[in-house]
Order: sequence, then C-alpha cells, then structure tokens
Amino acid sequence: MTRSSNKLNVHALVWKDEQLHVLDQRQLPEVVRYDIYTKADDIAEAISTMRVRGAPAIGVAAAYAVALSVKMYFQADNNNWLDKVDEDIAVLAASRPTAVNLFWALSVMRDKLTGLKADPIADILRHAEEIHQQDIAANKKMGELGADILADAKGLLTHCNAGALATGGYGTALGVIRSAVARMPRNVFAGETRPWLQGARLTVWELAEDDIAATLITDSAAAMLMNSGQVDWIIVGADRIAANGDVANKIGTYSLAVLAKHHGVKLMVVAPTSTIDFAMQEGSQIEIEQRAASEFLPDCYAGENSLIDAWNPVFDVTPAELVTVIVTERGAIFNPVTTGVSELNQND
Ligand code: MRU
Repeated sequence: MTRSSNKLNVHALVWKDEQLHVLDQRQLPEVVRYDIYTKADDIAEAISTMRVRGAPAIGVAAAYAVALSVKMYFQADNNNWLDKVDEDIAVLAASRPTAVNLFWALSVMRDKLTGLKADPIADILRHAEEIHQQDIAANKKMGELGADILADAKGLLTHCNAGALATGGYGTALGVIRSAVARMPRNVFAGETRPWLQGARLTVWELAEDDIAATLITDSAAAMLMNSGQVDWIIVGADRIAANGDVANKIGTYSLAVLAKHHGVKLMVVAPTSTIDFAMQEGSQIEIEQRAASEFLPDCYAGENSLIDAWNPVFDVTPAELVTVIVTERGAIFNPVTTGVSELNQND
C-alpha cells in the first residue's frame, strides 16, 4: 500500500555559490554525494559518464555549463570569449546523442549569447536558471494533468528513472506518480531497468526519500505482473518524441508497450515540450545511443579474441500507435497516432 506524500527531498542539480553541485547518480543509493563543477567540459564528462542523467536534467546541466563557460572565458578575454564558449558547446553536444533536451538547451543558450546585456555573466546565468525553473514548473503542471487522467487507477508501473533525479526537479513520470499518490493511495511498481538499474538504484530510492512506498520488479516480471491485473497504467518519461508521436525512451519501454497492448494496460508518456523534436518526422530517425558492452558483459568475455560480444542499445522507440496519451506542460494528446504532436509547437 502506498503512503501519501508530495514532499520533495531529492535534487539532482543545485546551483550554489556560483558552482554546479551534481548529485553523483553512479554512487546511489549507497552513497549520497554532491560533486562541485566549475567547468563546462567537466560537466560534459559528468553527462557522458551518467553522473547526471535523464533527458531534462541533462539539458539543465548543459545550460549551467554554458553559463560557467561564459564566466570562465569572458573574464579571461572579453574579445574572443564567444569562440571559446562555442568550443565548449560542441563538447557538450557530443556528450550523449539521444536526449533532445541537451540540444534544445544548448540551442536556447547559444541564441542568448548574441544578445547579452551589460553584465553578460549575470545575464547568461539568469537564462540557465530560467531553464531550470521552467522545467520544475512544467513537471508540476504535468503532474497535475497526469493525475487527473489517472483518476482512480490503482496500479502504476514505471520504468527507468523519470523523477526529480532525471529533471530539474519533481520529475515527469514520477512527477505524475507523486501528484497521483498525493490525491489517493496507489500501488506503485518500478522495473529494475537493466543494464544500468535506474529503477532499482534510483527510482525506488527517490520514492523512499519522499515517503512513497513502491514494489520493485525485475524487468522480466512485467508480463506476469500485467497478467495478474495489478497494473492499470504504465507511466514513463521520454528522451525524444518525434512529430508523429513516436517515443524514444529507456530500453525496455517498447517491450512494456507491446505487453501493455496485449494485457489491456494503458501507456502514459510524460515529457515537457523541450523533449519534442518537432523537426523529426518519425521515431526511426532518432539516433539510439549504444553504450559499452562492459555495462553487462561478464569480464571473462572481454578482450579482442573473445567469441562473445554484447549489444547494448540503451534506448528504444515505441511507435505512437502503442501510446495511450502523451502528457506535456502544454496539454495532453490522447491517441497520438492519429494527430502526432505538432499542435504543441508554439513556433508554428
Ligand atoms: O540513460 P538515462 O538514465 O539518461 O535514461 C533516462 C531515461 O530514459 C528517462 O526515462 C528519460 O530521460 C526521461 S527522464 C524525465
């Protein structure tokens, strides 16, 4: 049974004393440690090594990284600082390929660089803080919208970690779960999410920190859980949503979506519009990150002469036809397969 709470004790990123404090997600749940970052290329490394991860959090971290880059180079040489900042932006853009929030945040921050006011350092930091605060506000809005849709649904299954740890704060999928649980008790299930175990190491830790009880399952138990009738909705985040409503998210989301269809379970995708790539027509165009075999291949099979390798795509694409609803801060789109998501584009 779920205890009801809408507390928020978890913060992946904290801007303090002109430095970015990053909760090292590789160490959770055993060690809760914040590292201090003052350089953009170090933040790029924190992103590629998944010390900070989750699409919106990657975007927020990149925005602060650009602010730190301006601080460093504007102070050192206020004639050529822009070229140096552009070099840092290129390094940040190469840190991970799939989450579009990274490229969105870098593009927003790059646009601001040309119109900075009298105090460029303070001005660009204000823009990074805006991206951070807007993400939290979007999550809270989506939390309420999603909770309205869930109404009296009892059993909720989430995948990966799409919580405060993966965002500026509050969370997308976990934000909906937070808001829904604050209204009435629900049974929350979390998939362990192989190979990196974001569900087992991050999601259940984050929920426990906020006094929300949850049941962890192995990824392989999802079909049996759905067959048992204990799940009404699967609720996930996204790394990139194409204009036609196809959704890239953590590997295993597609499997859950296929299982959900078979079992009559609904699928809710929760993501801010910064996760929508309006220029991308369909999910097959999304670059899927491949990570090292060593993330799950036993050490004894490592090495050039080994006959055994591993295939490690860390995201997959769920076709829009398997998605019941996409919830954004600009509203929810039911049956995205019929309309896509272009109506949410405010630049049209
Ligand atoms: O590889 P990760 O941990 O960065 O993957 C994260 C996910 O797939 C999340 O579900 C997604 O970024 C949405 S986070 C609100």
